Amino acid sequence: MCRATSDDESCTMLSELSTTMEDMPTPSSPIVGRASELHELATALGLGDGHPREAVLLGGDAGIGKTRVLLELTARAKASGFRLLVGHCLDLGDNAPSFQPFVQAFGTLDDETRESVGRAAGAETLLEPGRAGQDRSDVLLSVVRTLEVLAGEKPVLMVVEDAHWADASTRQLLRLLLAHTFAAPVALAVSYRSDDLHRKHPLRLALAEWARLPGVHRLELGPLPDRQVAELVQSRESTAMSGERVDDIVRRAAGNAFYAEELLEAGTGDTVPEELADVLLVRYDGLGQDARTVVAAAACAGGPVDDSVLAGVTGLDDATLHTALREAVDRRILVSVDDGFRFRHALLAEAVHDDLLPGERKRLHTRFLDVLLAEGGAAAEISLHAHAAGRADVAFDADVRAAADSTRIGGYHEAAVHLTRALEIVPAGEVHR
Ligand SMILES: Nc1ncnc2c1ncn2[C@@H]1O[C@H](COP(=O)(O)OP(=O)(O)OP(=O)(O)O)[C@@H](O)[C@H]1O
Ligand SMILES: [Mg+2]
Repeated sequence: MCRATSDDESCTMLSELSTTMEDMPTPSSPIVGRASELHELATALGLGDGHPREAVLLGGDAGIGKTRVLLELTARAKASGFRLLVGHCLDLGDNAPSFQPFVQAFGTLDDETRESVGRAAGAETLLEPGRAGQDRSDVLLSVVRTLEVLAGEKPVLMVVEDAHWADASTRQLLRLLLAHTFAAPVALAVSYRSDDLHRKHPLRLALAEWARLPGVHRLELGPLPDRQVAELVQSRESTAMSGERVDDIVRRAAGNAFYAEELLEAGTGDTVPEELADVLLVRYDGLGQDARTVVAAAACAGGPVDDSVLAGVTGLDDATLHTALREAVDRRILVSVDDGFRFRHALLAEAVHDDLLPGERKRLHTRFLDVLLAEGGAAAEISLHAHAAGRADVAFDADVRAAADSTRIGGYHEAAVHLTRALEIVPAGEVHR
């Protein structure tokens, strides 16, 4: 048994999992950037000298490159003579089998090693997930012993991927391992998606506690700089790409390697590629109705938007609006900024905007237009909503004013864009200015 209370089904799943998943995927192209992060992590994990000093908690948004960095680290660890143990947490919700990543990792050991380590570490071990009647504390301690026995032969690097999906038993085990002082060299690296950690997420509290333990190092992987996203994009294409296309991908990916790859794969186009939109919209789909209304409105704003404008556009009363905004912020969809709220990632705004039905989109832009006209909003913003709302009369004036605003501060390119748009909406021969 996986543990005393698990059923046969999850045990079958586990054994399938441990035999079908490979350690770590093989990267198809060289890593771009991340030199300082790799140095920091490799030093903490003792990859150079086989003496781990700290366990590492590696966080970052989905697709930012955590696995890619871990891949690099595991390759270095292997080259330095480490034994590699890799386990993945899977998105199985309450059905996640207990100690899933450890069962998977131990499942990759060959029979001889399992037998000798099993003997040395004691009988109650996850090396034998089919055994019945194991006491929980015995299981926890047997994992510590197993790692210690393995590390007696050669240093061990244990990687637990995607801990945001970890089952409660795995979290408990990780807590024990992070607090334990191993007698042999055991390095531990745990990755998690920080954008999944909403306020009530069980890992959020756990991480705050784990990071305070001595010898635990937490690193948040930030976005890749623009020039590195450009390098990544260019390295994936055999033929030269136009500078404009590279710039477009770099701007929209905003430092996220996965988004850049997906945009590249999808070819040219203004809308968010379908597969990427599916990934992005999962979190939006999970919101309550009011929060969805607010997020849909924010997606039409074209940039940061303050709560008074959102109140006018959505028609929600103050209390409802603020509860909805709180939910969108907690779910890491919007962030609070000086001038109101904006999307955490511009591509998510694009995906939500694209996902609206045409009538709904037009209605929201019309509401923005009404609010901004009443409040005396900036001409460029009025132009955006007037075009999207199909209000050519307002759009023309707004574009002319926006062009004048841009010209005053030397923004000739933007001025030309506004004037071109203004000209496009008046029939030939009707321009008198
Ligand atoms: N620095 C990099 N250089 C080259 N490719 C990268 C880099 N970072 C990420 N990638 C590529 O971008 C894609 C997404 O990266 P990765 O899978 O590591 O993200 P992740 O943070 O682990 O995402 P998730 O939270 O979904 O697991 C992968 O195809 C990966 O190979
Ligand atoms: Mg990953």
